[in-house]
Amino acid sequence: MIKEITILPGKDKNDHKENFDQITLKAGETISIVGPTGSGKTAFITDIELLAQGDTSTGRYILINGKKPAEEVRYDPAQKPIAMITQNTKCFADLSVEEFLYIHARARKINNKKIVNDTMRLANKFTGEKITLQNKVTLLSGGQTRSLLIADALLIGAAPIILLDEIENAGIFKQEVIEIIKSTSKIIIFVTHDPVIALLTKKRLIMSNGGVRKIVSQNESESGAAKNLLEYDQKMGVIRENLRAGFEITKELVSANFA
Ligand SMILES: Nc1ncnc2c1ncn2[C@@H]1O[C@H](COP(=O)(O)OP(=O)(O)OP(=O)(O)O)[C@@H](O)[C@H]1O
Ligand SMILES: [Mg+2]
Repeated sequence: MIKEITILPGKDKNDHKENFDQITLKAGETISIVGPTGSGKTAFITDIELLAQGDTSTGRYILINGKKPAEEVRYDPAQKPIAMITQNTKCFADLSVEEFLYIHARARKINNKKIVNDTMRLANKFTGEKITLQNKVTLLSGGQTRSLLIADALLIGAAPIILLDEIENAGIFKQEVIEIIKSTSKIIIFVTHDPVIALLTKKRLIMSNGGVRKIVSQNESESGAAKNLLEYDQKMGVIRENLRAGFEITKELVSANFA
């Protein structure tokens, strides 16, 4: 049972110790990570995925339930409590979506067929271009693959820790992400350049030069701003969907939408 993970500070690119004592995330907590390109966001979540023990370029340590994880937890993929989905994540198995999900469910000892349908349904909430059970996983687009793997990690995967690197580029719909954040019992970490996603979490890390520069907790003013931003973003989403569907984006459409 994973109750919490703890990140102990390492060093930034200039070998300066990071400016925090420890960061602890409990089951059900979500956090986002922001910062300029090259500031170390992916390196931070990669440390978590590797359960780093001072042996990565950052020198961070990751603890599970306050303790150093056992070797087999680190190195046995079946025991690994972490699912990481990045922009480059691909499925290589020569299977249909149905076979892929079914095999995974069976490996997790979930013996009902419903979970396969539920997972595909959730994946299709994330992505505009629908996936079918008959699609070959190798032929899915990047966005479809990430949507499927996120749904799979949430519903079938036992991993209590999910790391998502820039999923906004997966064409993921934010309303569904919010629902997940509200209802999750997992630890979910979002690396993002998107203000709407970043403000969905109550806490965020600001990275710079390879280190955590600041830990920000959302105050009331920011929560209000987050709500406004989400509304703007939904309006922008309507324009985006019109664009994707091949419609003309007229002045009238824009002003009617933002009125
Ligand atoms: N503390 C550190 N010490 C040494 N090297 C680091 C450190 N943090 C990150 N790096 C290295 O710096 C490079 C950029 O880091 P990273 O890929 O994590 O940036 P990023 O914030 O994810 O950028 P992007 O937004 O472009 O994805 C990588 O090669 C990474 O290994
Ligand atoms: Mg990155």
